[in-house]
Amino acid sequence: MRGYSRQPLIALADIADGGFAEVEAALDGDAESLILYRDGQRVRAWLNVCPHAGRRLDWAPGKFLKSKEGLLVCAAHGASFELAEGLCVAGPCRGSHLRVVPVSVVDGDVWLGSCGSGFSRELLQDSSDP
Ligand code: FES
Repeated sequence: MRGYSRQPLIALADIADGGFAEVEAALDGDAESLILYRDGQRVRAWLNVCPHAGRRLDWAPGKFLKSKEGLLVCAAHGASFELAEGLCVAGPCRGSHLRVVPVSVVDGDVWLGSCGSGFSRELLQDSSDP
């Protein structure tokens, strides 16, 4: 199975608390755009691919829309995602999820993968599966 080499993605301090960043990471050898969302000392990550029509969610590289309600809004057609699970709660793909990418924060840097574990594309969670 091909995997990934553990990669530092970005310094935690480079993401505003409650804000987003976009990084590229090699997943199984392919460069993929990731959305990073910082919540205090934790970071969540998803593929930057909208489940509606497969477009990027940012309106410019690294520029994401956040609604007054605290939802991540896809710049293409307005699908809105809550930030705990990446669930679409409004818009054209309501009920679908962003695809989770495991990341961890170690010594002030955000790393691809969970602490101490390997990772491959097969481990990308698709919470819309039963
Ligand atoms: S591609 Fe995101 S709402 Fe259509």
